[in-house]
Amino acid sequence: MDKLNLVVLTDDMDLRIHVKNMATDEDIVIAGYSDFGSAGMLKIESLAPDVVVCAIKGEIGEQRFAFIRNLFLTVKTTAILLLTDSLSVDTVNMAAQAGVRQSMPLDTQPSEFCEAVRRASATEKQRQLDNASGKRTRSRTIGFFGGKGGTGKTTMAVNTAVGLAKKGKRVALIDLDLQFGDVNMMLELEPKDTIIELVQERGGINIESIRSFSMIHSSGITVLCAPKSAEFAELVEGRHVETIIDVMRPYFEYIIVDLPPSFNDVSIAAVENCDEIYLVYNSDILSLKNAKVCMTILDQLQHKEKVRIIINKNINGLIRYKDFERMFGMPVFGVVGTDDKTANVSLNKGRPIVISASRTAMARDIMAIVNKIDKQAR
Ligand SMILES: Nc1ncnc2c1ncn2[C@@H]1O[C@H](COP(=O)(O)OP(=O)(O)O)[C@@H](O)[C@H]1O
Ligand SMILES: [Mg+2]
Repeated sequence: MDKLNLVVLTDDMDLRIHVKNMATDEDIVIAGYSDFGSAGMLKIESLAPDVVVCAIKGEIGEQRFAFIRNLFLTVKTTAILLLTDSLSVDTVNMAAQAGVRQSMPLDTQPSEFCEAVRRASATEKQRQLDNASGKRTRSRTIGFFGGKGGTGKTTMAVNTAVGLAKKGKRVALIDLDLQFGDVNMMLELEPKDTIIELVQERGGINIESIRSFSMIHSSGITVLCAPKSAEFAELVEGRHVETIIDVMRPYFEYIIVDLPPSFNDVSIAAVENCDEIYLVYNSDILSLKNAKVCMTILDQLQHKEKVRIIINKNINGLIRYKDFERMFGMPVFGVVGTDDKTANVSLNKGRPIVISASRTAMARDIMAIVNKIDKQAR
């Protein structure tokens, strides 16, 4: 079933949670949150959601309506819903004139809200078909994460990116392990510029500056490398990460993000802006313990539903992937066996396994994951 993507616009943090709690149905996914400013506009242009929900407490000023009208005129493929606690005939009329498809009270029942979202999106889709305007492909941003070093996050991120490119997808790879990033090594790239030069660029972060500070790998993927020296890491902030992803989305089918084994401003911003998070762990007791802590934090951050688990370097020892399934009550998304020789040769040569050792069991395991990722409808 194709899922419906929502973006929630609000200036009120409590309303974010309120709307999230209303979006109870499984076919509705909140793809992002923002406010009524230029960041919100960029987010909506970048995510191209099916529906935008504007949630507003108190009187709705002329400025808000002007923003919504501008949104309606700029982003032509999205239906706009309004949730407000000051619903009056006047508000409904003003909202309709600004392009809002339906206005509802803030305390609408979740089931009714979900139904309104589905209806708005269906009407919008029909309108587009009638216009034969066609919708551009929607990008997916995928993070590889986990609170433990050495489990294979970077190996998975790099090989997934290259694997998707092998399938003809437009792919970007961002190395956000800012202190110890080694994506460039795994791809035998020697970057002149990195994410540091990008965030310091006077002209700001836009698609031109991103392209000029990235590298193109021989597989076709666009790679934004981590700083050459760890001391520069702190120059990159969470807000930079959000902007980079927002700006890149319209240009790539997949944005793969390699993350450090820790929660910090940058990794949390990345998690927030990813559509899916793949936690990479090994089949051992320390992994299992770490995964539990990591999952608890992701749950507290309200991102648990984005999480999938990958078990890498799998061996049939004391801890098996079934133990992860039992612990988290969800199936493990993919399992990759252990192959020290293939992993080492690939690392030393800087040649991804799915290209240089595509016939090995390890490459096949990884490609099975890549195919499964690519098959998932959004
Ligand atoms: N399936 C595997 N079998 C054997 N070695 C692996 C496997 N996956 C990764 N490795 C090796 O484990 C080490 C750590 O991998 P890396 O991807 O850098 O982990 P992380 O990014 O989680 O720190 C590297 O030497 C890598 O080659
Ligand atoms: Mg790594």
